Order: sequence, then C-alpha cells, then structure tokens
Amino acid sequence: MCGIVGAVAKRPVANLLIDGLKKLEYRGYDSAGLAVINNKQELERLRVAGKVRELELALHKHPCNGTTGIAHTRWATHGAPSEKNAHPFISHDQFALVHNGIIENHSHLREQLLKEGYQFSSDTDTEVVVHLLHKYYSQTKDLLNAIRSTVSELRGAYALGIISTQYPNRLIAVRQGSPLVIGKGQGENFIASDPLALLSTTQQFIYLEDNDVADLTLDSIKIYNGDQEVKREIHTMSLNQDAVEKGEYRHFMKKEIMEQPDSISSCLEGRVTDEHVLPAIFGVNADAIFAKVQHVQLVACGTSYHAALVARYWLESLANIPCSVEVASEFRYRDIAPSKNSLFICLSQSGETADTLAALRMAKKMDYLSTLAICNVANSSMTREADLQFLTRAGVEIGVASTKAFVTQLISLFLLVLAIRKTQNGNSEYEVEMIHALRHLPALAETILQQDRAVANWAKSFTAKEHAIFIGRGLLYPIALEGALKMKEISYIHAEGYPSGELKHGPLALVDNNMPVISTIPGDHLLEKNLSNLQEVRARGGKLFILTDQIELFHGDTFSDAHLIEMPVIHPMLTPVLYTLPLQLLAYHVAVLKGTDVDQPRNLAKSVTVE
Ligand code: M6R
Repeated sequence: MCGIVGAVAKRPVANLLIDGLKKLEYRGYDSAGLAVINNKQELERLRVAGKVRELELALHKHPCNGTTGIAHTRWATHGAPSEKNAHPFISHDQFALVHNGIIENHSHLREQLLKEGYQFSSDTDTEVVVHLLHKYYSQTKDLLNAIRSTVSELRGAYALGIISTQYPNRLIAVRQGSPLVIGKGQGENFIASDPLALLSTTQQFIYLEDNDVADLTLDSIKIYNGDQEVKREIHTMSLNQDAVEKGEYRHFMKKEIMEQPDSISSCLEGRVTDEHVLPAIFGVNADAIFAKVQHVQLVACGTSYHAALVARYWLESLANIPCSVEVASEFRYRDIAPSKNSLFICLSQSGETADTLAALRMAKKMDYLSTLAICNVANSSMTREADLQFLTRAGVEIGVASTKAFVTQLISLFLLVLAIRKTQNGNSEYEVEMIHALRHLPALAETILQQDRAVANWAKSFTAKEHAIFIGRGLLYPIALEGALKMKEISYIHAEGYPSGELKHGPLALVDNNMPVISTIPGDHLLEKNLSNLQEVRARGGKLFILTDQIELFHGDTFSDAHLIEMPVIHPMLTPVLYTLPLQLLAYHVAVLKGTDVDQPRNLAKSVTVE
C-alpha cells in the first residue's frame, strides 16, 4: 500500500504531486507528504498526519517551490500515522526518499546505522533506507552505485522514489516487489505507484520490473537491472480522465455500483457470440491446457476470495471439475500437495495484492499444469507473471470497497467454466442457454439498481445496529459472505455471513428482536430449505430482510413483518451476480446514513501490497 508520485520537470511540481496523490489515496490515506528541491538546491519538505487534502491546505500556507520532487500518501505499517512518520524521509539535507512496501530487516539495519552515528526521527522501517543511501553516497560520490549498494542490503518488498540536492534535475525510481511506473512526458518525466496518478500529464507509461533502477532527467529515462542498462516497452494508456472522477455521484462507490451493467457488458464483449463462448479468450494456449485440466486451485483475498468461492460451485456443477479455494495468506504458508493436472488461478482486482502474488509465485515453482491470473488491471504484476491472463474489464475501481470488480470477476469465472466445459465436452444446448442468460444480465442489473430507493429505506433500520447476519445457501452462501464484508468494511457494523443451514449450529443464539438477518431467497431447488431457515429466525424474533423473486410466497401472514425487495427471475446459476447488487447498495446507504468515509474506510486501503 502507500502511494508514490515523483516528477522532474521545468515547471513547479508541488501541485502536480498533490493531484497525483489524490488519485492514489485509495492506496492509503493516514498521512501524506512531499519534498521538492528549490532553486537554491535545498530540500523543502511538508508533511501532515491525515489525508492529502490536509497536505494541500498546508501547501497553500507554506508553498514549496521546486521543479523536481517526490510525494507520498501513507498506509501505516511501522509507526503510528503521524507527521514524524510521514514520508518523505531526509538524510543530512541531501537525500529525500519515499517508500511503498516493507523493509523486513529494518531493525538490524537501524541498529547498525545508530552505531555509525545516524540519528532517526521516525518509527518507520523506511528511514533506514535514506540513511543507508547517504552512507554509501558519502563513500563513493556516485549516485547509482550508492543506490545499488543500498538496495543490496534491503530485504522485503519496496518501491522507492529518491531525489538529491546533489543532482537537482534527477529523479530515481527503484522497484523490488511493489508496483512502480514511469510516466514519459515531453521535456519532463514522472513516477507513480499507478498510472492513474499521472493521467492528466501523460498517457505513456513504462512499467518497471523487479530489481529495476530508473534514472530520470528532464529528457532521458535510463533503466538498469543490476549493472545492465535494459529497455522496457512504452505502453500508451487511453483512459479517459472521467473514469477517475466521481461525476454526478457523491461517492466513487455509488458510481461504481451504478456502472455495473456497463461493466458486465464490457466483460462479455468480444468473448461470446449470441450463443457460444469464443475460442482462445483465455489466451492462445489456453484451450490446450483446459483440455487437460482435472482440478482447479483458486487463490485470492477478501472480496476476490468470495468470487472464487462462487466459482467452485460452478466448476463442480457445470464442468464436473473438482475445485479447491483458499485465502492466499493461508495458501502461501502451508505445504501444498497439488492435485494432478491442476490449474492454478489467482483472482485479484488490483493484480498486486501481496499475498496473492506470493501464492502465484509459489505455484509457478510447483507442479501445476499452468497458472492463470484473472485481474482488473492490465500490466499488473499478476497479469505479467502468470502463464495465462484474463482481464475482467470492470473499468477503474477507486472506492476501497470492491463492487464492479467483484461482479466482473463472477462473469469472468463463469466464462472460464463454460470454456473448460466446452473444451472437454464440446458444444451443448446448455452453453447456448447460459450465453442467452449472460447477455440478459446487464438489463436485469439495471432493473435491480432502480430499487435503490427501496434499499435506502431498508438502510434506516440498520444505522443503530451493532450487528447483522447475512445468510444464503448454495451459490448464494458466498454472496452472504460478501454482503457481510461490504457492510462491515464501510459502515463498521459487525456483520457475519453464514450458510443458512449453519444457523442452528451456533449463530442462532445471537438472534433476538434486535438482530437484522438479511437473506437471499431465489426460487431454486433450495427454496424450501431457505424458507425453513427464515422460520427459525422469525421464531426467535429476528428482523428479516428478504431479497426474493418469489414475492407472492411472502404475502400471507407468516412473514408479514419481513422487509421485502422483489428480485427479477434469472437463470439459477447466475443468481450470485444479481443478488450481490442490493447488498452493495445496502452497505452503501447504511454507511452514508452513519456518516462514515464511504470511499476510504478507516484502517483499510484498496491495494494491499504488504502482508
Ligand atoms: O485487489 P484484490 O482483489 O486482490 O484485493 C483483495 C482484497 O483486498 C479486496 O477484495 C478487499 O477485500 C476489498 N476492499 C473488499 O471490498
């Protein structure tokens, strides 16, 4: 986590750095800072505890003028969110440095540097790096060599941005395990943790690889890997600025929820005909791999993990392929015995989540048939490192709570299941039926989003609650987990998701007339079972909130006090996609009513690039 921006230009860069940081706040937002080299070749630094807005206000009061600079928005790992722990860090008024990632051996390095007379002003793991740099530069007076010596001492994952008063027109970038991109301008160059930060200045980007050190001046970009100068491809990104603005919406999350019909269409576009999944949509070699697949291992975190759980139901039911699903932070630290001909799939919106990326790297060294990354971000670490890639095409997602990325993960996984099934069993009527249902989804999603006001009404019943239970069966059990995660993440209400059948094995003890129980009841083969579970809740006085396409069943006396929202009828296999939407809206409206920070909930960050 944490966001880095840097610039070497002929114009003053402080405001440009602030604009960049605002686009990176999704990566962390507990403190922020910047440093520039002024025309006297001195470092000017400004740091605040709090958000980038605070830094902007501080900059109005204390302008920092300089044409080379670095900036940072922080998600605290080592040391509390405070001004003294905010980046950039400075050594001997010569070097300023910003860092994203974790320096694992910082304690040892700190002890050594203290013995050598260096003084520390923060509790962070980062400060050792700037002092090491100073130490090595003092010995060699060669900036790049000093950087090489410095990074050779570091263990962990990091991206660094560095400026030095000795070289006022140079900006150095280092990548080892944490994302960093160069923005190529005209007579000016930039660095950032994500191209989104630089879209108002350039559309040309170079993605750094691990061990790369980039040396940027006004009109040159040199990249070294070890001692060797290397060439990296320039990518043009044609993203519209509107994609990263809120537009008519108060929050990114609401905008992103409302965009889901378009995101679904875009995920399907060029991948299905009216009746079939197109060949090779997972890559030219994919079909040969799919033909051999006998097992699928899905690994992910958070919301992406919930999408993976849905995929297990689909894979085993539609393709008859056994499937295991595991949270990446568990998978990566246990002994794994891969099944025969197992396809490893990592699922991630950002493609940068540290645990998922580590799991992918581990899988690549193991006996898996192949690896596939399903991500929303092109050129992310996972898409670059997996054998096969599939982009979910949700569009840029900025709200920390994942919404449209989740729904497009579901669509992508469903396409994967159809593709595997087709490779192993050929065309079928079922495929045609499913493609028709998929193509109908955007219109149905629109219908559900029109229920926004009804969901907002439900939300009023939640604002005073401290707990909530989400229940679902079968394909909708992972959606109960997702509904609960959304609720706790942005409204701070303690919410749990359970398989409905598990209620009586423990959670029912929590149900009384103060407990909201949110339930998804489609008219599928589990309807009767679901109705029994509702009775269990009702008998204990629980407050029922029901999403159902069987509304007539609830019109009698039995459930007269239940809150109901009618859902459209959809193919039973695709209920997870549609039943997710009102749950996202519910969490959103509860958070708005409670006045929490919807897009940047406390303690979280969007791209979790540290363990
Ligand atoms: O980028 P990823 O999909 O790998 O991120 C995984 C989780 O950090 C993420 O889904 C998180 O749970 C969301 N904030 C949930 O809304």
